[in-house]
Amino acid sequence: MPRSPFLSSRLQGFGTTIFAEMSALAVRTGAINLGQGFPDTDGPAEVSEAAIAAIRAGVNQYPPGPGTDDLLSAISEHQRRFWNLEFDPASEVLVTAGATEALAATMFALCETGDEVIAFDPTYDSYGAGVAMAGARLRGVLLRPEPRPGGGFRFGFDPDELRRAFNPKTRLLLLNSPHNPTGKVFDQDELQLIADLCQEHDVIAVTDEVYEHLVFGGHAHRPLAGFPGMAERTLTVSSGGKTFSFTGWKIGWVCGPAPLVAAVRTAKQFLTFVNGAPFQPAIAVGLRLGDDYFTRFAADLQAKRDLFGGYLTTAGFDVLAPEGTYFITVDIRQRSKSGPDPVDHTVAFCLGLPEKAGVVAVPSSVFYQDQRDGQHLARFCFAKNDALLIEAGERLVAAFG
Ligand SMILES: Cc1ncc(COP(=O)(O)O)c(C=O)c1O
Repeated sequence: MPRSPFLSSRLQGFGTTIFAEMSALAVRTGAINLGQGFPDTDGPAEVSEAAIAAIRAGVNQYPPGPGTDDLLSAISEHQRRFWNLEFDPASEVLVTAGATEALAATMFALCETGDEVIAFDPTYDSYGAGVAMAGARLRGVLLRPEPRPGGGFRFGFDPDELRRAFNPKTRLLLLNSPHNPTGKVFDQDELQLIADLCQEHDVIAVTDEVYEHLVFGGHAHRPLAGFPGMAERTLTVSSGGKTFSFTGWKIGWVCGPAPLVAAVRTAKQFLTFVNGAPFQPAIAVGLRLGDDYFTRFAADLQAKRDLFGGYLTTAGFDVLAPEGTYFITVDIRQRSKSGPDPVDHTVAFCLGLPEKAGVVAVPSSVFYQDQRDGQHLARFCFAKNDALLIEAGERLVAAFG
């Protein structure tokens, strides 16, 4: 990426994301956009009606700094109901402008210049920039597709590589599970190892759990804060965007021990101070919906994964079926004829896909520290209505099958 003359040295290399380019391509070519990660249908009517009612009732001025009392209580109740985690709404929960702000404020609050933050690579794209803006350094631990005993693939990591990543400069371990872009849900043994290493090296864990309710049959979400010895050193981050299909509302939160949350609050108050007054009561309604909402939501998405994944397989791709999230990854090597430069492999493939198949995907390489690690992987978002997924699937089969 060329150097920008105006951008500070901290942010060199973080230019416009590929998402903007791919979305523009989708508009230009009329292709079905399965690139960016957002659903094409609104979430529950009770939740949107609550926001409309709040606006009409005049809930339109700055809410309290930490979040409204009602939302803080709803977050705390939700953490107890689903994950058996206890947080005092008054001192151990903070409402933020999406999970993105919670993560950025955490890094700004807790990192000194030169500190290291461990994260599994590939990462959601805000991590690298957030770490850089905090003056810290991201230390990646690679997730690689590994053959699954029963067939297919699962993303795994080398435990020794994780062990080696910890050093005296390590301040935070940033864990995203369920994981974007791979769809990996970290299992009990993997989480136990992470918990053990954080305690051994006195490292604070920050968990990004925005896909906590998007987990498919046979897998379970386990918050790291629930592991013995972790509650006192973990900040648990999530948001209402993915769970309730209102990604544009940007109501997020962070929960953890009072002194850590207080530190994050200090940074947060100078970033956005507060946000989303009428959306806060609405997300509280969402968090208190019955269990059936959450179960049905995951089951619907699992059906979409299987529907679209079936087309990808028929089209001849090796499919890395996700255990959670609404992203599905394919290995394009069987089906790509895109030029000799291996680094640009998936980028070239995805740039050509709208014309070849009328579908937009994202080159997974952009999520990796070293783009060569993801050069043969592409990511599709399947949080779309079935008719659109069928249309996209049929186009891919016609183009590649
Ligand atoms: C892993 C991950 N974390 C955080 C976010 C952003 O969450 P929010 O919209 O609540 O800021 C996303 C959105 O795609 C994500 O995939």
